Amino acid sequence: MNSTNTYIEKNKERFINELFELLRIPSVSADPKYKNDVIKTADAVKEKLIAAGADKVEICPTAGYPIVYGEKIIDAKLPTVLVYGHYDVQPADPLELWHSGPFEPIIKDGNIYARGACDDKGQMFMHVKAFELMMKTNSLPCNIKFMIEGEEEVGSDNLGTFVKQNKEKLKADIILISDTGIIANDIPSITVGLRGLSYLEVEVTGPNRDLHSGLYGGAVANPINILCKMIAQMKDDKEHITIPGFYDDVEILSAEERAEMAKAPFKLDEYKKALDLSDIHGEEGFSTNERNSIRPTLDVNGIWGGYTGEGAKTVIASKAFAKISMRLVPHQNSDKITELFKKYFESIAPKSVKVKVTPHHGGEPVVTPSDSVAYKAASMAMETTFGKKPIPVRSGGSIPIVAMFKSELGLDSVLMGFGLDSDAIHSPNEHYGVFNYLKGIETIPYFYKYYAELSI
Ligand code: BES
Ligand code: MN
Ligand code: MN
Repeated sequence: MNSTNTYIEKNKERFINELFELLRIPSVSADPKYKNDVIKTADAVKEKLIAAGADKVEICPTAGYPIVYGEKIIDAKLPTVLVYGHYDVQPADPLELWHSGPFEPIIKDGNIYARGACDDKGQMFMHVKAFELMMKTNSLPCNIKFMIEGEEEVGSDNLGTFVKQNKEKLKADIILISDTGIIANDIPSITVGLRGLSYLEVEVTGPNRDLHSGLYGGAVANPINILCKMIAQMKDDKEHITIPGFYDDVEILSAEERAEMAKAPFKLDEYKKALDLSDIHGEEGFSTNERNSIRPTLDVNGIWGGYTGEGAKTVIASKAFAKISMRLVPHQNSDKITELFKKYFESIAPKSVKVKVTPHHGGEPVVTPSDSVAYKAASMAMETTFGKKPIPVRSGGSIPIVAMFKSELGLDSVLMGFGLDSDAIHSPNEHYGVFNYLKGIETIPYFYKYYAELSI
């Protein structure tokens, strides 16, 4: 057994307990109720970085939640790796669907259950522990900088500003991120693409007050009915999005690229079974894996209005609302798509209602190189610890800051995540395999080793 494995074997219980400490703090960035807890988590991350051996560890205030920074510069001539992660988490609700408290981490069947176990406290903390391991075993071969933020789940607005204002501090050769997944525990993969995002909220107003649906029903526009119709109109029967110009910039992959993608193992039966679906659904002419990675989408994320309490209330609501998001693919631009949506939504609204469209955060899609030294180092690292060469895959999720790192710092990212789609991130009962957590801690030092070796 080599020194990495020996160190992990000796310390794994502590590694898990320390992660539990972070998981117990409800760092929900979306909900102001948790403000103190989010800040407390930043402090906890700071302490962990100091304990692991980082220098110049600081809490960098922003207009929102702070960014935790730390570094270990061992030799200016060596390459510098900038590690990015986030300590904030998604809201835990619906609470009643959790089998155990979202902020009371437990291990069941080899999985750590808690909000943030995988996304991203567990994956971020692997880097802190891998760093500790390299420090303690005297094997750190690169300079390291850590930048751990607390607003990823709400759009990373202030990280953008921080990056723009701290280009010198953040100087590095590559960004390393574990905030994505692998295909399966015996099928490692490296993410080479992320989708972008346009997120909006719409409001449809009919009459100036809620009305008796008998006295007025049939004679005035019901904003809920109208909103449903407008949403339905935004896709045709082939599941193409009907917003004019929506597909103008969409990257078209060659037949070869699509054939290459199709080689990634995928079992439709298991996919349906895992979600309890009798059939799948999506854009005509594309496979499931294409639909959720290289094709853009439009989804309603929430819709409300009218009476939703117990029993029946005969009412025509004055207003209806929806939150709608579009996942974007390379060459689409989130501001442009937001504008196209707004124009189209307003244009299909009948005169009988008023509509208001409010844009939320957005983010740009990104494709990262799969022929770079850093990619090669990640690939070799995973091959060493999984015993199999990882497959490059494009993911459907978004990490908006990755495109910004490229445009503002000129840096590519390596997306070496260890989560599984079945980890239920953002859902009730989020979990992260103990196997994955420890595998990450084992793999990361190899990344540094190979990256240093290949960089010379
Ligand atoms: N870590 C996820 C993104 C992710 C997960 C990418 C799995 C690939 C595989 C990240 O925390 C996230 O949830 N991002 C948001 C975007 C953000 C603007 C709220 C998303 O994708 O919805
Ligand atoms: Mn994440
Ligand atoms: Mn997330």
